Amino acid sequence: MMAIDEKRGCPIGVFDSGVGGISVLQELIKVMPNENYIYLGDSKHAPYGTKPLEEVRSLSFRNAEDLLAQGAKGLVVACNTATSAAVRLMRGKYPQLPIVGIEPALKPAALEKEHPRVLVMATPMTVQQDKFKQLMARYADKAEIYPLPCPGLMEFVEAGDLDSEQLHDFLQQLLAPYLDKHLDSVVLGCTHYPFARKMIRRIVGDSVTIFDGGEGTAREMRRRLAAADLLNPATEPGWVKFENSVSTEAELQLCRRLLKQEI
Ligand code: DGL
Repeated sequence: MMAIDEKRGCPIGVFDSGVGGISVLQELIKVMPNENYIYLGDSKHAPYGTKPLEEVRSLSFRNAEDLLAQGAKGLVVACNTATSAAVRLMRGKYPQLPIVGIEPALKPAALEKEHPRVLVMATPMTVQQDKFKQLMARYADKAEIYPLPCPGLMEFVEAGDLDSEQLHDFLQQLLAPYLDKHLDSVVLGCTHYPFARKMIRRIVGDSVTIFDGGEGTAREMRRRLAAADLLNPATEPGWVKFENSVSTEAELQLCRRLLKQEI
């Protein structure tokens, strides 16, 4: 058994189906700059959002086991899809481990004002899962909620395309049916989408509030680590190690670029 002092210096494991979870990693570093991180992106098997549930579960467990084998002291499932498919089972398998998942930030959007109109953009799997249906039911009398599955959107971010005309046209077509609904807010319910936020903003306009779950997830991880007395007492900035199942130099360069990308 590792002594608790030693365990506090261990990295936090973060995973996603690809590079999207780097939007959550950015928030984790803001909230806990002195922690160390291993970020595992499973770009080889992306997208998860259009795969069968069982496959996403087994890929998620594989990612978790890989990070635990490298000494992770806790896990952030930086993927809404993997969270909805596997986080409950993961907590069952590792009951002692701080595990935090991400879900669409519907709560702050629904409570922002009196009966707002909220568009939730997410993967097909996320919107189909019971976890999301229960979340929607919780706020059904507080807001008008439009769930919008967005197959094909994460692929732009995986390709490093955050501002092309093709991305603009794709989003314009996807969002067109909602542009006359007087939306109050858009929830980015997939961790890839904050990297397309500027383009989404261009289409929905400045009066719409855009929410994502990254910051809340990072804060929750800090709470969980504090409760387990596992926060790193280091006073220096920590390190980040990127791993990707497509382990080419170009892929790792994209990870480093996205970590610095303003979202
Ligand atoms: N980034 C993932 C999420 O938050 C999903 C993208 C995908 O693999 O389909 O849902």
